[in-house]
Amino acid sequence: MSLLDSLLDRTVALSFDRSGFLRHQRRFVASDLDVDLSGRVIIVTGASSGIGLATARALARLKATVLMVGRDKARTEAAAAAVRAEVPGAQVRAELLDVAHLAACRAWAAALPEGEIHGLIHNAGALVDRVIRSPEGFESTLACHVLGPLALTEALAPRLLRAQDARVVFVASGGMYSRRLDVDTLHHERDKGFDGVKAYADAKRAQVVLNEQLAARFDATGLTFNAMHPGWADTPGVVKGLPTFHRLTEGRLRSPEEGADTVVWLVACPRIRGERGKLWLDRAPQPTHLLPWTREDEAERDKLWAQVHAWAGVDPGWPRMLLNK
Ligand SMILES: NC(=O)c1ccc[n+]([C@@H]2O[C@H](COP(=O)([O-])OP(=O)(O)OC[C@H]3O[C@@H](n4cnc5c(N)ncnc54)[C@H](OP(=O)(O)O)[C@@H]3O)[C@@H](O)[C@H]2O)c1
Repeated sequence: MSLLDSLLDRTVALSFDRSGFLRHQRRFVASDLDVDLSGRVIIVTGASSGIGLATARALARLKATVLMVGRDKARTEAAAAAVRAEVPGAQVRAELLDVAHLAACRAWAAALPEGEIHGLIHNAGALVDRVIRSPEGFESTLACHVLGPLALTEALAPRLLRAQDARVVFVASGGMYSRRLDVDTLHHERDKGFDGVKAYADAKRAQVVLNEQLAARFDATGLTFNAMHPGWADTPGVVKGLPTFHRLTEGRLRSPEEGADTVVWLVACPRIRGERGKLWLDRAPQPTHLLPWTREDEAERDKLWAQVHAWAGVDPGWPRMLLNK
């Protein structure tokens, strides 16, 4: 990377915005996505809109079978129909699931037709301005970004392990750079004093740590875990969740497709097989901390693993138990 590139990246804004994508794109390997994903089954959550929809469309173009998961029937079916209309022969299926609903995640995973799963993309997410309770009573940011993905991963892990080179991807956010992992703040028992931006950044920080923990526990297998952040992409989620930011950055945001590029690359590129446990932006690994005071210690990381499993009702020893079977 040139000195100028490195200086521009340090500004954050000129890395996360569209100019950052266009600059980073110059070092992409052109052949990385010359791949035929026929027969590979990839689940994309939050596929009814924005980055998830763009990811599903790109994977359909690469001939994957894409399960497009959304929580709203009409929006999810419309998104799947749009992909079918745009991509001749697209193998996509609309799947109804509220990822924040733990029991529904387990039931949905159990009801999937037999067969291997080759990719699981935890993309569903939202930034909310008040406490919304999930069906099990968890604050929705925690439930949708962390607990649901954990429940889904655990439920689908046997099928992911059976597949060749299966990959799990967490769509995190650069917003997490501002936050230090503090497990006690993740569960908002009281509605008063709720700050949706902080709750979102905290959940994204937790996703990134969880990604590293899962990657380490499955490091002797072909199943890999990676996290990425998309920079700043112009999506309905940003319009709704951060209206002022959206107005101020008009014309400078990435397209949903540009935001989705690294998601697609992480799940599809054969050259990076075996990469695991990293955080990526624009097909390049990133530090997980930009500020020294956001570094968590080992005890806080262990606490996260234990606590999210307790909340999600998953045995914290599940990876070991699964691998010893
Ligand atoms: N855009 C950005 O600049 C940016 C930056 C950093 C990170 N991200 C992350 O990128 C991901 C995609 O966001 P986006 O910007 O594309 O926003 P978006 O357009 O609002 O898409 C979010 C998707 O997640 C779905 N979703 C939300 N809660 C769900 C739940 N409980 N169960 C199932 N689906 C659910 C939404 O469904 P509905 O259609 O029903 O709302 C929608 O399909 C999110 O994880 C977000 O945090 C985005």
